[in-house]
Amino acid sequence: MRIAPSILSADFANLERDIREVSDADILHVDVMDGHFVPNLTLGLPVVARICQVAPMPIDVHLMIEDPDRWAVQYADAGAFSVTFHYEAATNPRQVARELRAAGARASVAIKPGTPVERALDLLDEVDMVLVMTVEPGFGGQAFMADQMSKFETLRAAVDASGADVWLQVDGGIARDTIGTVAKAGGDTFVAGSAIYHAHDRNAEVRALRDLAERAARD
Ligand code: DX5
Ligand code: ZN
Repeated sequence: MRIAPSILSADFANLERDIREVSDADILHVDVMDGHFVPNLTLGLPVVARICQVAPMPIDVHLMIEDPDRWAVQYADAGAFSVTFHYEAATNPRQVARELRAAGARASVAIKPGTPVERALDLLDEVDMVLVMTVEPGFGGQAFMADQMSKFETLRAAVDASGADVWLQVDGGIARDTIGTVAKAGGDTFVAGSAIYHAHDRNAEVRALRDLAERAARD
């Protein structure tokens, strides 16, 4: 069970400090938004490149941008450990995934709530992670969509049957009261923005969320 704090809810004027405050995390989730694929704008390549240099943990980039066919591989070249692009934005998702792996990153595909899980199933042999969105991408602090859980059940069965080491990530509305539902459904990698960054002790919240996920998956 991996916890990925999202710095979307961090203080952008004190990013390095806020990254160090979640040092118990497994990976760090960095949301790149372009104001076109989603109605919000965050940061881009130069900032991600610096985050990759200063962060003590591997960087998990989530691209909510148009034309990942052009841009995704540049995030791998900038030092990202994992690069997630949206299925809905890609012209040739298979090719994007192959380029990411060739550049030395883990390749990952994301699907929005309205996108059928079959689109991700078709790419399972080309990716190292599938991200199932449990909010409409664009903003932190939205309500968790429990109706997406059947996607995890479908993906978990397919991944286990294939024997491939594909991580199943959830993003959107993850907190103490929702993480167990996803862990039970088959998720193993949990993005949490507001739940971690609004906590008084951020590292303690990382550990608490991981404990809850592990316990839910065991029971
Ligand atoms: C939203 C982003 C998320 C966001 C999650 O589109 O992709 O990573 O930070 O925020 P919470 O955990 O607050 O729902
Ligand atoms: Zn995200």
